[in-house]
Amino acid sequence: MAAASSTLVFYVNQNKIVEPNPDPEETLISYLRRKLLLTGTKLACGEGGCGACTVMLSRYLRPVTSGCQPRIENLAINACLAPLCSVHGAAVTTIEGIGGGGGGSGKAAHPIQERLAVCHGSQCGFCTPGMVMTAYALLRNHPQPTERQIDDSLQGNLCRCTGYRPILQGLRTFASGCCGQGRNCCRQGRPAATDSVNEEDGLSTQLTDTASFLPYDPSQEPIFPSELQLEADKFDSESLIFQSAFATWHRPTSLEELLKLKQDHPDAKIINGNTEVGVEVKSKKSTHGCLIYASHVDELRKFDVDETGIDIGAAVTLTELADRFKELITDDKLAEHKKRGLRAYVEMLHWFSGQQIRNVASHFGSESAAHELGAVLTFASLKGGIRQVAIDANFFVGYRCTSARPDEALLSIRLPFCGRREFQFGFKQARRREDDIAIVNAGMLVRFSDGDFDLVESATVCFGGVAPVTRVATGAAEALIGRRWSEGRRLVEAVAARLDAEFPLSTASPCAPPSSSAFYIGSVPNFAAAEGSHGKVGEVDDGSGAERLPLRPSWGSLLFERTPPGQLEKDPVGRPVPHASGTGQASGSAQFLDDLPPSLGEVFVYPVFSRHAAARLVSIDASAALALDPGVLGVLDRRDVPGNNEYGIDLSDDRIFADAEVRFHGETVAAVVATDRELARRASHLVRVEYADIRKPIVTISDAIREGSYFPEKLCRWLRRGGAMWIVLWLSERRTWWREKSALEDSCLVVPRDGGEFEVLSSTQNLSSTQSIVAGALGLPRNRVVARIKRIGGGFGGKEYRSIGTAAVAAVAAYRFGRPARCLQGWVNKEGLVVGLKADCYLNAGYSADISCSVCEYIILRMANCYNLGAVDIRCRLCRTNTPSNTAFRGFGAPQAMIGIETIMSRLASASGLTDRAIRELNFFRNGDVSIYGHAYEDRCWEECLALADYEARKAEVDRFNSSQSYRKRGLHITPLCYGIGFGRSFLQQAGALVNVYLDGSVLITHGGVEMGQGLHTKLLQVAARVLDLPIERLYISETATDKVPNTVSSAASMTTDLNAPAVMSACQQIRDRLLPYMHSEPKAGWDSWVNAAYMDGVSLSAAGFYHGAGIHMDAATMQGRPYNYYTFGAACSEVEIDLLTGDHVTRRSDIVMDLGASLNPAVDIGQIEGAFVQGMGLYTLEEQRFSPAGELLTKGPAPTRFPDSATSRKSSTCSCCAAACANSPGPCTPPRAWGSRPSVWPPPSSWRSGTLWRQPGGSTRAKTAMLAGPGSGSMHRATSERIRLGCADDIAVRHAKCSVLPENAVPWELKLGH
Ligand SMILES: Cc1cc2nc3c(=O)[nH]c(=O)nc-3n(C[C@H](O)[C@H](O)[C@H](O)COP(=O)(O)OP(=O)(O)OC[C@H]3O[C@@H](n4cnc5c(N)ncnc54)[C@H](O)[C@@H]3O)c2cc1C
Ligand code: FES
Ligand code: FES
Repeated sequence: MAAASSTLVFYVNQNKIVEPNPDPEETLISYLRRKLLLTGTKLACGEGGCGACTVMLSRYLRPVTSGCQPRIENLAINACLAPLCSVHGAAVTTIEGIGGGGGGSGKAAHPIQERLAVCHGSQCGFCTPGMVMTAYALLRNHPQPTERQIDDSLQGNLCRCTGYRPILQGLRTFASGCCGQGRNCCRQGRPAATDSVNEEDGLSTQLTDTASFLPYDPSQEPIFPSELQLEADKFDSESLIFQSAFATWHRPTSLEELLKLKQDHPDAKIINGNTEVGVEVKSKKSTHGCLIYASHVDELRKFDVDETGIDIGAAVTLTELADRFKELITDDKLAEHKKRGLRAYVEMLHWFSGQQIRNVASHFGSESAAHELGAVLTFASLKGGIRQVAIDANFFVGYRCTSARPDEALLSIRLPFCGRREFQFGFKQARRREDDIAIVNAGMLVRFSDGDFDLVESATVCFGGVAPVTRVATGAAEALIGRRWSEGRRLVEAVAARLDAEFPLSTASPCAPPSSSAFYIGSVPNFAAAEGSHGKVGEVDDGSGAERLPLRPSWGSLLFERTPPGQLEKDPVGRPVPHASGTGQASGSAQFLDDLPPSLGEVFVYPVFSRHAAARLVSIDASAALALDPGVLGVLDRRDVPGNNEYGIDLSDDRIFADAEVRFHGETVAAVVATDRELARRASHLVRVEYADIRKPIVTISDAIREGSYFPEKLCRWLRRGGAMWIVLWLSERRTWWREKSALEDSCLVVPRDGGEFEVLSSTQNLSSTQSIVAGALGLPRNRVVARIKRIGGGFGGKEYRSIGTAAVAAVAAYRFGRPARCLQGWVNKEGLVVGLKADCYLNAGYSADISCSVCEYIILRMANCYNLGAVDIRCRLCRTNTPSNTAFRGFGAPQAMIGIETIMSRLASASGLTDRAIRELNFFRNGDVSIYGHAYEDRCWEECLALADYEARKAEVDRFNSSQSYRKRGLHITPLCYGIGFGRSFLQQAGALVNVYLDGSVLITHGGVEMGQGLHTKLLQVAARVLDLPIERLYISETATDKVPNTVSSAASMTTDLNAPAVMSACQQIRDRLLPYMHSEPKAGWDSWVNAAYMDGVSLSAAGFYHGAGIHMDAATMQGRPYNYYTFGAACSEVEIDLLTGDHVTRRSDIVMDLGASLNPAVDIGQIEGAFVQGMGLYTLEEQRFSPAGELLTKGPAPTRFPDSATSRKSSTCSCCAAACANSPGPCTPPRAWGSRPSVWPPPSSWRSGTLWRQPGGSTRAKTAMLAGPGSGSMHRATSERIRLGCADDIAVRHAKCSVLPENAVPWELKLGH
């Protein structure tokens, strides 16, 4: 055996990297960003759940299996999970390697970068490099991909801003035969309303001119490095060993070497894709001293097909597996029955994670946690030789533990083909089936009798998600034997009864959420239906449950008002100008905070979080952490805060570091400061924290009411008017924001400057509060602290306040060590007319008040939506719980209020016998009515939306569908929206701007708003360009900083453009006024000459603008006043189809009408509407926070929280988004108080998705019976698949309801919020 090499060789963007001493524990993204300073690749979740870190990995593949040709493989992978050491002999391509576009690289933008930017597919831009690289890898393999390939390629990429339509539209321009927006591709099937658009009516459907796109020429792509191809044998056959103080990495290249290593190091972890182990290392803080990378052992890479089955090497990736199975499925020589199981595998693999994971994850990596029907595993060890093990009930010995021996390695898996009489099915149910861990999954193999394909001879049924290990349902299988498949429903009932007995689930089940029982039983009829589709429907009614709900390519028809005919071509106002940083974001050159190069002497801060939700903090022992390495400089706690450890808006109840008590699981107790990020992380695990008086935490609203745990009355709000008659008790447990990122980016850097100054660079929407709280923490006046930021990766309200704690921790570290410190981390009479509403609302605020008081206020103010409620008595109380603090997120109280009032309206419809539409129209405000807080209304958009959606005709069609289908139901629902825009406090209606003109004529603008993807900078550049009468290219906005524009208000409440635009206009107008004399004297001289002439005369070329919007007032005690500047009106109509067997749901079509007056930028505004709509969909149909009974949040990060992905958008789109001025509106279309008559856009559409909840039941009586009477339907505030399933009034849901009742003193496995 040749000596192992300890030098890592690979290529990055065509450059050879020789790394003599790679760290076995370092990830590829860490190396790219830290060592190579390639910061275009973004780090967000760090656990394969978002795709922001996508890079392309290319390898020259030598043939291992006979018949394979050598080839170059290009794979999109997650750089956050890829171990650096795994890329030996490979070529890595990052976003910087494919093109430029705004980064000073001199390179032209790659067509993908250009098209994504120009098609408005980049808002905050944090996800964009990952999207680009995913698409790039696809094009390298398929230069003319199909639309399906494009859609599927994005399975592993999340975007929190765009709603995906513009991203997909931009990428579909690469699809074969697709022009992106033409009549014959993406817009097929668009609603007739937009078909009849006549450009002469002043309306347009074109946001992008695709004709100007550069053609894509695959031959211009960089070639694979010749050295890696020519010396592939050497690179692949080299044994490797890399060592650090903490870990050793072995890469054996022969079976003998692998087995020897396993014998010598039985504790060693064999890894392939590292997608399981990597996540454990990050989230469970596990460490592995010895890692064996087994993917270069030929025996583990085989794929051998014989007469009876397939031998698959343990290191074969899931992508390879799917490809090889697909080849076999299309092979005419293979008997049809042999293909049955392969088809089931291919379908299940489609639902398995995203492509980036499947591209590297091995078959056995998942095998170690799952079950395969009839599969046999081959293990090997030096001592024991070859051992074959069938995967049966004995194989799994515990959660993710198998009966494999410590010195063994898995060589291969044998999958038998289905016999002639055998059928195999797979089933997975998840909240978001693509790229999501299953709630429950199942596999079934049924053998029918020889000569009678209806008689079950034998069966194997197994389930995942019902126990810590995969379980074989022997009783259920027995119940099938000797029965006829055509018995249909009777057969299903027999199996379900046995399953109840076999898996008596309760909410105390360790790994099965309570809903699993309904799902696993629900999967049986699904199998029956599936078989029914093969001609054996029997008593399975009409067979409507036989097919899965389809995923279709999404499309969107957009309609917006064109600029008036007389507007000059150079005036950008009202035009769909692409996002000012779009190309830079798409090329990776747009810098986010953590992309800034490290400062000299920079240190890293890693927080130590509390492990209890309610306990006394006794001591913090940092000795082990400090002893780890000299690079660990110190461990900070509350005693190190030189100023105020307490901070808050309405109450000073937030803490930088926990003091005597910890009040939620995950509170910052201490922080390790070290010279290296990884070292700080490692040391944080060594800090010992002692707790006493550990108490049962208050987690839910019910807990809080029981314990009387409320915030002071002064923070609660109560509105009474007239005599309200009916009582509605409504509990709102909507979680709004967590330390876990609801946006993708969150970081902070604090730099000490001379003179005792501190510069705070923070990913926040609220620079001035950041400045003041940091100054308070350091005991400094505010003039010594400057807070600044160029752009942030999304905000949505969640970074208005919760981001400040991170900044304060970093500031304390910078103060203590004098070095730059970085830290990453809501009444009727018989006719259905509402005459009064009495509502008690409870909000789960978490451990601190944050800005929940304001949310309380806005829930009450927004409770009326568009309805005249008459007498009101609405009280909103804030519950104090031992959970992380909630804040305003996605609509500032609107989602909670909308849930409340729209639920009331739908129930009134049922009670009064009126239709959903009629009850709403009956209760609408009439023009001139006055709101519950004394503000006059108008009504808009409802009629336009009804017409656009062809509501009545489609409603009739929905009813017809529902009466003909047993297992599929549709619902059509229209939801109105009236969203008040304003902060509700006069002092918050202000903004400042600074405009500097330089002698070359260029203009630098600074204002008080934070760019977070909402296109703020772009809109303000358009406004300034108009006032200055300059091309937009001559203007620039660099950053937002408290030393340029002081005392900024938070960039929130949909007010940022409204406030900052007049301030910018004012400054620009001052400049222009000063230049007017020069313009008049030399009209033809031009801007540059006028500027220079003014300078020579000593005229100031710098101007400060200021704006204060007067007229806003609100009395918190009486809840009366004028809280809003104006209202944004809209209506949305969606048609949803649900599968009663599984709870699956798709939105068949949505029509949105929103009155944008004369939009400043239709592209930006429509992007905001779509993004908010999809985000609202996530809020109401996917996301669900779950806590352990001990108060620990179980749904951490994007994957468990289930943010909407592109497939969600595909299930839901067909979105006809009409952001048009309402031509037929009764009143004037342009709200007089919006800036330039251009209303705000973002948060309102997120509330429409609440309509999803009222759309689900369907229109017919039958459908309502099926859907509304189920035991889980009572208080459904979220329409996740499991809640829809449990809302069905069938035996399965009833049985589930019974088994969900906890025995006395039993501890539930988890606490779900939002019931
Ligand atoms: C974002 C994301 C989405 C996911 N989605 C899904 C999903 O939809 N469905 C699902 O089932 N799983 C899912 N997973 C988990 C998935 O099962 C694993 O990530 C993957 O299959 C593991 O493969 P790997 O090669 O990366 O394993 P590794 O992380 O490399 O190893 C996993 C385990 O297998 C052991 N092992 C590997 N090879 C051998 C061998 N030859 N001999 C002995 N032991 C070996 C390792 O020691 C380790 O314990 C997901 C994971 C992520 C990160
Ligand atoms: S950062 Fe890698 S997938 Fe999220
Ligand atoms: S643009 Fe995708 S996350 Fe913001």
